[in-house]
Amino acid sequence: MAILVTGGAGYIGSHTVVELQNAGYDVVVVDNLCNSSEKSLERVAKITGKEVPFYKADILDREALENIFAKEQIDSVIHFAGLKAVGESVAKPWEYYENNITGTLVLLDVMRKNGVKNIIFSSSSTVYGTPDTIPVTEESPKKECTNPYGWTKSMLEQILTDIQKADNEWNVILLRYFNPIGAHKSGTIGENPNGIPNNLMPYITQVAVGKLEKLGVFGDDYDTPDGTGVRDYIHVVDLALGHVKALKKIEEKAGLCIYNLGTGVGYSVLDIVKNFEEANGVKIPYVIKERRAGDIAANYADATKAKNELGWVAQNGIREMCEDSWRWQSNNPNGYED
Ligand code: NAD
Ligand code: UFG
Repeated sequence: MAILVTGGAGYIGSHTVVELQNAGYDVVVVDNLCNSSEKSLERVAKITGKEVPFYKADILDREALENIFAKEQIDSVIHFAGLKAVGESVAKPWEYYENNITGTLVLLDVMRKNGVKNIIFSSSSTVYGTPDTIPVTEESPKKECTNPYGWTKSMLEQILTDIQKADNEWNVILLRYFNPIGAHKSGTIGENPNGIPNNLMPYITQVAVGKLEKLGVFGDDYDTPDGTGVRDYIHVVDLALGHVKALKKIEEKAGLCIYNLGTGVGYSVLDIVKNFEEANGVKIPYVIKERRAGDIAANYADATKAKNELGWVAQNGIREMCEDSWRWQSNNPNGYED
């Protein structure tokens, strides 16, 4: 039996395929490559020594999905495929709802028609909106999202919850990721954003490699220790390992489960700059800018539930995250492009 990984050529997906193959799982990837390169999977194969069966297809394409389910013995699905740029989602809400929500509905329909009722879904800490208290637990209320991307995550959590409630043969695990950074230790796979990065770490690494001049720090007047935004950064390999643990949980008939995947530690923007400089001996010039619309002051996870129920704890600290992000970027200044 194989695990179907949607969006498996992407940043988190490619790292998860490595950890699944290392753990002995057979993996099949479907990705339309709208935000990734097939080269990531070639590099995964070099890391693990195993081929990665790959279908270039869109999850909106029912026929293509049916073909995959007919050809492969799929047991469970890890569902990463989706559009994820917050700002773009504000400008193109229809495209985000269509791709993320309709795409998932098509996937779920093909799954149930093929009797495959195990799914791990990539959710986000964004579903907590502006939390009343931090750290957030899985019991913290879901709040208003500030953008259509966030709403797709919040709505898909509800859709998956309702489907599991109606048919308890389904096992649904909702994983709420905090802020993934870092890269595989080999430095051969990593985050490869199109154009100017929106997220902090890829922006920093592109400053470090000389592609961008200086970092803009979005606001230094938040109610945080140094005034800059605080987030829970988690090493992408730890995040990937969380999926392997979640699969084990599915094998025990999980029903519906929700887990935060974070470290439980918050770092400010300036903490990240300082740690990156110290870890890698590279200077990151920065300038303070206006707050970015939709940003919250601080959020970090209470990850106790994942520890108790999955036996999962993030192993890598901020230094490893900074070193590994830099190893990937400095070895691959243009990402997967030659
Ligand atoms: P990514 O863009 O690198 O990976 C997503 C992959 O999905 C890409 O390879 C893309 O080509 C593919 N894809 C998109 N739409 C598709 C479609 N219709 N059919 C087939 N493939 C499609 O992003 P990532 O950072 O690896 O994120 C993976 C998942 O985790 C996403 O669902 C994202 O929303 C979620 N997530 C990411 C973060 C983060 O900060 N990176 C945080 C929380 C949640
Ligand atoms: N930041 C800067 N300058 C930049 C980029 C970011 O100062 O150039 C700051 C932000 O203001 C924030 C922090 O760095 O305080 C982190 O910003 P990111 O954009 O890296 O991450 P976010 O927490 O805003 O968002 C991320 C994902 C979303 C996801 C959210 C919660 O991009 O998809 O985490 O999971 F919804």
